[in-house]
Amino acid sequence: MGRLDGRIAVVTGSGRGIGAECAKLMASEGAKVVINDLGGSTDGTGAARIADEVVEEIRAAGGEAAANYDSVADPEGGQAIFQTAIDAFGGLDILVNNAGILRDKTIFNMEEADWDAVLNVHLKGHYCCSRPFAKYIRENNRTNCRIINFSSTSGLFGNFGQANYGAAKAGIAGFTRVLALELAKYGTTVNTISPGALTRMTIPLREARGQQVLETDIDSGGPQHVAPLVAWLASEDAAGISNQILHAASGMIGIMQQPRIIKSFRKKSGAWTLDELDDFIPQLLEARQKNDEAAQKTGEVIEV
Ligand SMILES: NC(=O)c1ccc[n+]([C@@H]2O[C@H](COP(=O)([O-])OP(=O)(O)OC[C@H]3O[C@@H](n4cnc5c(N)ncnc54)[C@H](O)[C@@H]3O)[C@@H](O)[C@H]2O)c1
Repeated sequence: MGRLDGRIAVVTGSGRGIGAECAKLMASEGAKVVINDLGGSTDGTGAARIADEVVEEIRAAGGEAAANYDSVADPEGGQAIFQTAIDAFGGLDILVNNAGILRDKTIFNMEEADWDAVLNVHLKGHYCCSRPFAKYIRENNRTNCRIINFSSTSGLFGNFGQANYGAAKAGIAGFTRVLALELAKYGTTVNTISPGALTRMTIPLREARGQQVLETDIDSGGPQHVAPLVAWLASEDAAGISNQILHAASGMIGIMQQPRIIKSFRKKSGAWTLDELDDFIPQLLEARQKNDEAAQKTGEVIEV
């Protein structure tokens, strides 16, 4: 008995990296999985049928998988990816929006093409793949479905040189909040993953900082440390858990706080004057500082 017996999943960008680990673990737990991957380079150029290798691996291990090579970045691709699940397995229960690329540059050097490519694969890709699934859930009253979206600390915290990627990843967290509300009545949960893993996306960044990546680093920090959280969220055990941002990296799991107003003032009448703001803005900043300090304390990693 697997945790995902009888469930049908699409994992985008699962020809390698985190997506491949998620797909393989989900298949080993009994899910029938569509392996979608365009098979391009990290910057999104090129294409190759790398999805076939993961499909073969899953089948060799006794699981069920089907390949799809479309891009998540346009509506036709999103529709074709969804249709692959319908044609191969007769339905869809789980969508993992994992596909991604990078084009890191500071704003001074970031051309429109770099901005568009990254926003299209990440943020628009989430829209293109989620929409056919959401419509299908509503039209068929399909209950207990899952959408698992991929954000990043780059968007949630901010990271130098990643304005395009950070904007897309912050947008994905916002997209998740709205979809969680819109799909709640169908019993669909929608959550955000903030992953960290040594993959072809991140190994070159580490090497560029002069740090060698050894096999032991992959053991302790590879994508296999993200996959269990995704598979668990996809399972029936995670029913009712929605609109969360969960972090997984190198054996660590954590939960992020959501944006909230943590302190506020309202004037009894009239608009604020700039002189009044001189007094009140420091009080807001102090509240924010205290809130950050408290979160830092509760967020300290506990070894278990
Ligand atoms: N690795 C990390 O530490 C890390 C950190 C934060 C967020 N992420 C996110 O996790 C996800 C997976 O990253 P990874 O590290 O496994 O990267 P990866 O490059 O190893 O895998 C991403 C896969 O997506 C595929 N892909 C790219 N564009 C596509 C498109 N248009 N259509 C279909 N497939 C496409 C690629 O071919 C590739 O196989 C990404 O969304 C990434 O932004 C990763």
